[in-house]
Amino acid sequence: MKPVVFLACLVPLARLVARVVAGRLGANPAEFLEHATGDWTLRFVILTLCVTPLRRIPGLNPLIRFRRMLGLFAFFYGCLHVATYLTFDLVFDLRGLWADVMKRRYITAGFTGFVLMIPLAVTSTAGWVRRLGGRRWAALHRAIYGTAVAGVVHYVWLVKSDIRVPLAYAAVVAILLAWRVRTRLAGTGRSAAAR
Ligand code: HEM
Repeated sequence: MKPVVFLACLVPLARLVARVVAGRLGANPAEFLEHATGDWTLRFVILTLCVTPLRRIPGLNPLIRFRRMLGLFAFFYGCLHVATYLTFDLVFDLRGLWADVMKRRYITAGFTGFVLMIPLAVTSTAGWVRRLGGRRWAALHRAIYGTAVAGVVHYVWLVKSDIRVPLAYAAVVAILLAWRVRTRLAGTGRSAAAR
């Protein structure tokens, strides 16, 4: 199944490339690319977060095999997203990025979400799991929730009028976060009772 999931994760990129080749990027190609890559970054972050709750459903435990791949695709689309911004909005002016991070609150949120993904991508290998130890590795990788929250805040802040779509993403992230807190509290309660 892994090659199939891998190819499925490349479909959004293939569709974007096809649009570029066909010249079908609308009146503002830079904006189109920024929006499409931003959407897919957030969607892959959310898909990655869905794996753990879905595993609890009988028969779906093997989904865990795809979690790392989904997380790395979130980072991949995040890199494309930041690259389109650096190319079209800033024309490779890295100091301009820092100025934007300081000046525009939605860029501050997006930047935070992206920076949080970097250590997760770097430590995604089996070697890093061994080096850090399972517990510390898992604690570090909870930063993906930070990326999800920063991503939806970024989206809500950048939209000027109709915020229904970003709010829908925010609701999904809130549900996933609430599930996580609940299972953690239940786990703590169970181990306290066992002690
Ligand atoms: C350095 C980091 C980032 C920068 C500079 C950045 C920049 C941008 C810009 C310029 C836009 C378009 C704004 C507009 O047209 O008004 C945008 C849209 C968006 N970004 Fe980011 N972003 C960053 C990180 C992220 C991250 C980490 C995520 C997700 C986790 C994300 C998700 C989105 C989404 C969902 C949109 C809106 C797409 C739409 O309107 O359909 N961005 N971003």
